[in-house]
Amino acid sequence: MAALSTLGFHHITMVSSDARRTLHFYRAILGLGLVKRTVNFDDPKSYHLYFGDEKGSPGTLLTFFEWPGQPRGRPGIGGVHHLAMGVADEAGLLKWKRRLTDLGIPVTGPKNRGYFMSLYFTDPDGQILEIATAGPGYAIDEPADGLGQSVVYPAPSQLSGSVESAEFESRTHPEPVAAITPDMRLSGIHHISGITGDLGLAHEFYTDTLGLSRVKQSVNQDDGRIPHHFWANYDGHSVRPQSALTLFGWPPSYHYAVGGVGQTHHIAFRATDVDEQRAWREKLVTQGLSVSPVMDRTYFQSIYFHAPDGLLLEIATDGPGFAVDEPVAHLGEQLALPAWLEPDREKIEKALVAL
Ligand SMILES: [Fe+2]
Ligand SMILES: [Fe+2]
Repeated sequence: MAALSTLGFHHITMVSSDARRTLHFYRAILGLGLVKRTVNFDDPKSYHLYFGDEKGSPGTLLTFFEWPGQPRGRPGIGGVHHLAMGVADEAGLLKWKRRLTDLGIPVTGPKNRGYFMSLYFTDPDGQILEIATAGPGYAIDEPADGLGQSVVYPAPSQLSGSVESAEFESRTHPEPVAAITPDMRLSGIHHISGITGDLGLAHEFYTDTLGLSRVKQSVNQDDGRIPHHFWANYDGHSVRPQSALTLFGWPPSYHYAVGGVGQTHHIAFRATDVDEQRAWREKLVTQGLSVSPVMDRTYFQSIYFHAPDGLLLEIATDGPGFAVDEPVAHLGEQLALPAWLEPDREKIEKALVAL
């Protein structure tokens, strides 16, 4: 059998303190679809919301557990620093800047990150978010068929504090943007950036274990002392969208991530089907990892394990998908429950705050 290699991200799961506020932010402000309104299967007293494209395609999914009254966490080693969502180009990015700014949401950028242009802001719980353009891509400073082979440094003009970067950051869209236009469409997970205390070990894990390839060895453009490496599904010619995981390499003495509100709970990678997932599970176990049994999440099947520095990871199957219990045109409109929770529907609905 060919070596296993994940196609990329299936979903990212974050923690919200207030499902209603989160729904407003991601659906009304960012324009994502609510593709499933359900409860945490391991704790049915609280919501689990899934946002994504019209069908809830893998790679577009942002999901939230609601943990009301819980403290905020903070990024650190073994955690995720930020989530980037994709937009087609700079014109769309600038419209987002104008829209968010006009809504009173503080925005940093756009910044020219070389491989893409980026805008930064946070959600109401403090989760750091980025919107990044699709291009120009990773081949701007090394050959497309030789990405990630050696260390490359950003152009001085890209670095924070340069005249060019200040000029770049002053750009915005000239008119108010009241409604989201088609060119602003957010295309799912552009990249996820985490923090590790051991880049070498992380490299071994994401390549040997998950089958990704390192596509960039660079430095943090806001702090050149910190290495910043990128891994993705890469066939030697092109980098697959919705597959780029980046890690900042912190000194191991720095602080660890604290889970909680405003942080990422876990990241899920794709397995195309249950057979591939079974192969993944065997491989992970053979490599000595502690892996959960296969869990039935109704919309996909999941296995869970940890990256070397503690980050919780999942491998989720592409199917059966979100139309398994409601029509595609009506995804997310009603509270959906798995069969084993259906007998408790009335009790569960009573305990939840209406959205
Ligand atoms: Fe980023
Ligand atoms: Fe998950």
